[in-house]
Amino acid sequence: MTPDLLEQGAKRVEARMAALASQTVNTDSGGRTASMGRLKLDDEVDVTHGRILYLDSVNVSFDGFKAINNLSLDIAPGELRCIIGPNGAGKTTMMDIITGKTRPDSGTVFFGSTIDLLRYKEPEIAQLGIGRKFQKPTVFEQLTVFENLELALKMDKRVPASVFFKLDSAQRDRLAEMLHTIHLADAVTRLAGNLSHGQKQWLEIGMLLMQDPKLLLLDEPVAGMTDEETERTAELFLSLKGKHSLMVVEHDMSFINTISDIVTVLCDGSVLAQGTLAQVQSDERVIEVYLGR
Ligand SMILES: Nc1ncnc2c1ncn2[C@@H]1O[C@H](COP(=O)(O)OP(=O)(O)OP(=O)(O)O)[C@@H](O)[C@H]1O
Ligand SMILES: [Mg+2]
Repeated sequence: MTPDLLEQGAKRVEARMAALASQTVNTDSGGRTASMGRLKLDDEVDVTHGRILYLDSVNVSFDGFKAINNLSLDIAPGELRCIIGPNGAGKTTMMDIITGKTRPDSGTVFFGSTIDLLRYKEPEIAQLGIGRKFQKPTVFEQLTVFENLELALKMDKRVPASVFFKLDSAQRDRLAEMLHTIHLADAVTRLAGNLSHGQKQWLEIGMLLMQDPKLLLLDEPVAGMTDEETERTAELFLSLKGKHSLMVVEHDMSFINTISDIVTVLCDGSVLAQGTLAQVQSDERVIEVYLGR
């Protein structure tokens, strides 16, 4: 990418920032606010106990139906944890709880050892460093790939909130590197609305990564992707492991097989089994819930 292209993109973004600053991005999953506000929080998450995320005895009922039932699980820093389970198992609801979209009736949800997530609201949790990717891509369709990434950078709580801010050279490098990471280096000037479904998913993942989340939650990221896009997404996730902690919910077992270390099987709102994919797939209880219903 040439400096010219970067400069052009930066100028176009500046012109549109004022309009976008108060815009809300609606998703099928209930709405997410692209707020330019900043929450001043300590940048560090205490992982001295070896856990970036800790859920203990979490319960949620909807009109008497127990969607999450005494759910306990934890994730290590840098881990790529895969979550599988039949439809209605509570996978999305679990992400809703971690991100503050749904309040549990009881239980404990900690980010690191010291941050009690149940004390924070949804936008605050995002700013604490927990990024979430809903199933449907959520990008600014009328902006270019470059502009989408730049906008995401401006939403990083470490970057001064200003409509007129200019990328410095480190930020340009980071943006250029991200374009390669998400396989969109050849699509810098394309409007996001004209990308394929898989490319939009990558762009949104790139936007989340520009904010350098410590924990990234991804709900069915390869649903609707072509086989080739799915393979490239697997490479992308493997490259993120270690740098970020990831929780990936997927039904695509061949994708899970490629990326997984530990797989957690959810069923009826609690953990049914946990281990390597081969281990959980040979577990009689897991076979029963997948085949027996
Ligand atoms: N806001 C809600 N109100 C009522 N019931 C809900 C609500 N959210 C989820 N549920 C119910 O809770 C259960 C768990 O749903 P959830 O969406 O978490 O499952 P899931 O494991 O993500 O399933 P899928 O694989 O189909 O995405 C389902 O029976 C669902 O109908
Ligand atoms: Mg779901």
